[in-house]
Amino acid sequence: MGGTIAGLGSSPADHTHYVAGQLGVAQLVAAVPALAEWTQPLEVEQLAQLDSKDMDTRTWAHLLQRVAALLDDETVRGIVITHGTDTLEETAYLLHAVLAPAKPVVITCAMRPASALAPDGPQNLLDAVTLASQPGVQGVLAVCAGVVHGPQEVQKVHPYRLDAFVSGDEGPLAYVEAGRVRQLRAWPGGHRPRRDLLPALARPWPRVAIVLSHADAQAWMVASLLAAGVQGLVVAGTGNATVHRAMEATLEEARARGVRLLRTSRCALGQVVEPSADSMADLSTLSPVKARIALALDLMADAD
Ligand code: SIN
Repeated sequence: MGGTIAGLGSSPADHTHYVAGQLGVAQLVAAVPALAEWTQPLEVEQLAQLDSKDMDTRTWAHLLQRVAALLDDETVRGIVITHGTDTLEETAYLLHAVLAPAKPVVITCAMRPASALAPDGPQNLLDAVTLASQPGVQGVLAVCAGVVHGPQEVQKVHPYRLDAFVSGDEGPLAYVEAGRVRQLRAWPGGHRPRRDLLPALARPWPRVAIVLSHADAQAWMVASLLAAGVQGLVVAGTGNATVHRAMEATLEEARARGVRLLRTSRCALGQVVEPSADSMADLSTLSPVKARIALALDLMADAD
């Protein structure tokens, strides 16, 4: 899909001004000697080549269709996706929510471009292939810096460190250490796939935005989204998903006009504890960016 793992900079010291998505996936695989000798056949496919900050629903739809087809191919044992770190958690959640795969779909990435003095991409890619080849592994997984994260929990929390991802209070699912997988928790899965939404996912998505509650938050923030025709609003609330009182009336108005509201917390760790009894909006335990995808999927299901 592109990303820093396929990025090139002007010199080995360039860690920040490089261009993401320059090398093809075949070149990434060829750069890892252990993959040249991999005992199972590896096939590579270039689906996209982008800086993941620019991810869009058309690219997501293409990825979903292709991964769905590969999952249905009984000769495919597992899938590895190279991806930028910036929106990796959103892609992971979307694949998990829609496909609920019984095979491993492992997303990996890098925090240093391929041209860096010590790029982290080759080891991450090897770890991802190791994980995807391991019998019994299933579901959408993210692997970075030897840590395996689940699609519901994974979050990028650091803009520079090699281990830029965490799994919050839940903790990682596993580690990949010297070519071995040490599992800590059950692999994700067990929910109903939503493949019936694939046609809707390929069309323009419902307009769902995130509005952040913060000190000095104001009604115009919600009003301007209403004027723009928003169909769903994720309210990233303070603490226990609480909302600034200055926004409450306009949010009520949005709800009365048929806008679906979903409340979540802007806190990076933990989950909402004893939410207030008000019925302004359903509550989500997902991060705001994942709750936005969940709400969009619900709106698509309602429209079908
Ligand atoms: C991207 O997300 O495509 C660029 C940043 C990265 O991969 O670390």
